Amino acid sequence: MPNTETPTELRDTPVSYGYVSRFFHWALAALILWQLLGMVMKFALGRHPVSAFFVGTHQWVGSVIFVLVVLRVVWAVSNAGRRPPHEAGLMGFASRAGHGLLYLLMLVIPALALLRAWGSERAFAPLGLEIFSAREADIAWAVAPANAAHGTLGWVFLAVIAGHVAMAFYHQKVLRDRALNRMA
Ligand code: HEM
Repeated sequence: MPNTETPTELRDTPVSYGYVSRFFHWALAALILWQLLGMVMKFALGRHPVSAFFVGTHQWVGSVIFVLVVLRVVWAVSNAGRRPPHEAGLMGFASRAGHGLLYLLMLVIPALALLRAWGSERAFAPLGLEIFSAREADIAWAVAPANAAHGTLGWVFLAVIAGHVAMAFYHQKVLRDRALNRMA
């Protein structure tokens, strides 16, 4: 059977996401999983070369994620109205709310960490590239939100992603509405 959802253009259409949206989706999925896997390793293995490797990539991979998410939001807004529509009723509402929460967490989690990095007394230099220089002291209001919520929101994100993956398979295997084909 021909796959009618195969993208033919960069932009989205009502039957399928285009190449750019697919790139953002799968690149961010891989990088976010990398972040969370690294933190799971940290807890599972403690001080270990494998967890140290993942932890060593956390700040720069997180910074790349932030840049990609901002671009993704701009792309989503510029494609609004062209994208595959959500279904009607309660399922559609739940789907909208779930995707909204994913976007919110994807943006807020790295943003809080970057705000903390900016306000911290220590320089922020992922991969040796200095982005924020050192200060005499922490800026309390910039550092406090990430100290309070970055990690917790990261674990909430893991749970929301698990729900998102479960729903994608539910649509594909139980409802058989080919929802996954529009992005896969
Ligand atoms: C989507 C991107 C990100 C995700 C999903 C994420 C997730 C997490 C998680 C789950 C933890 C472990 C929390 C715990 O110890 O219980 C953590 C810790 C940490 N992350 Fe991230 N992170 C992201 C981006 C960033 C960025 C951009 C930075 C730096 C600019 C950063 C810096 C840190 C630091 C310093 C810690 C240890 C202190 C703390 O828990 O706040 N993260 N992150």
